[in-house]
Amino acid sequence: MNLPTPQGATGPGASGAASAWDRAADGWDRSTPLIHAWLAPATAAMLARLRLRPGARVLDLAAGAGDQTKDVAQAVGPTGHVLATDISPRILAFAQRNLGAAGLAHVRYAVADAEQAVPGEAPFDAVLCRLGLMLCANPAAALASAFEALRPGGRFAALVFGEPAHNPCITTLMRLARQHRGLNGGASPYTAGGLFSLAEPGRLAGLLAAAGYADIEVEPLAAPFALPDVATYIAFVRDSGSPIMELLAPLDPSAQAAAWQAMAAALQPFTGERGWVGPNELLLCSATRPLTH
Ligand SMILES: C[S@@+](CC[C@H](N)C(=O)[O-])C[C@H]1O[C@@H](n2cnc3c(N)ncnc32)[C@H](O)[C@@H]1O
Repeated sequence: MNLPTPQGATGPGASGAASAWDRAADGWDRSTPLIHAWLAPATAAMLARLRLRPGARVLDLAAGAGDQTKDVAQAVGPTGHVLATDISPRILAFAQRNLGAAGLAHVRYAVADAEQAVPGEAPFDAVLCRLGLMLCANPAAALASAFEALRPGGRFAALVFGEPAHNPCITTLMRLARQHRGLNGGASPYTAGGLFSLAEPGRLAGLLAAAGYADIEVEPLAAPFALPDVATYIAFVRDSGSPIMELLAPLDPSAQAAAWQAMAAALQPFTGERGWVGPNELLLCSATRPLTH
């Protein structure tokens, strides 16, 4: 499936991120039912912040395999319009296939880096980004592009991972992956483009304010990942968790297997009477492009 890549729509660091997510695309798409259930309450809260109405025009940045795009397309209805963009052509092709199969014909797709100016079609009534903004090496640029794409009075909302201490599964995965790679110590959890890059208190609100947004709200949301057992969680990360997959990729298969085994053992204690429930905390942010700017 060929998706348009408008000229100038990808930045200099984009090809690494694109190929990494191309590699995780099949797994992320396969995991859509798990991801949907995991993120359903947080996604509903994000959509509520966008105040979507039938007929609205919406831009979904880093749309992935289109799970939240589908919710948006249903919320705005056939008189609305949705543009779904992602840096990975492969994952976006899954979005196109999935939403096409659901009969949602009012969605268009474009391969694009969220940090670059939005290709055509602006202005939008709303711009959203679910679990993608923290992966941008330059989130200020992404927020500025989103701002430019919004009409005055338009709404922005995003979900990113919160504080590392409140995300023990991800911190454990990262710590053990780095340990098995022999990368001990040194790395800040808040590294640009990393899973926790926007988790520091005040960081997201500060970036939104600097980009010119008003009505800024940032709220932590508990997003526990409830699965039958720890093996299901490890299989999900192994198949679709691009940052961990990429960290382990240089290891030979037996060293990789040892790392996954160590992760499963370390996360086993989250098993209880209701199966395996891994705690996660997300930050939901929302803001408005002011009417006068
Ligand atoms: C964790 S997935 C989230 C996908 C989808 N929003 C969801 O919640 O199911 C992260 C997505 O961000 C995309 N991505 C990473 N860096 C990006 C960038 N700079 N611009 C656009 N998309 C990016 C990846 O290709 C991937 O699809």
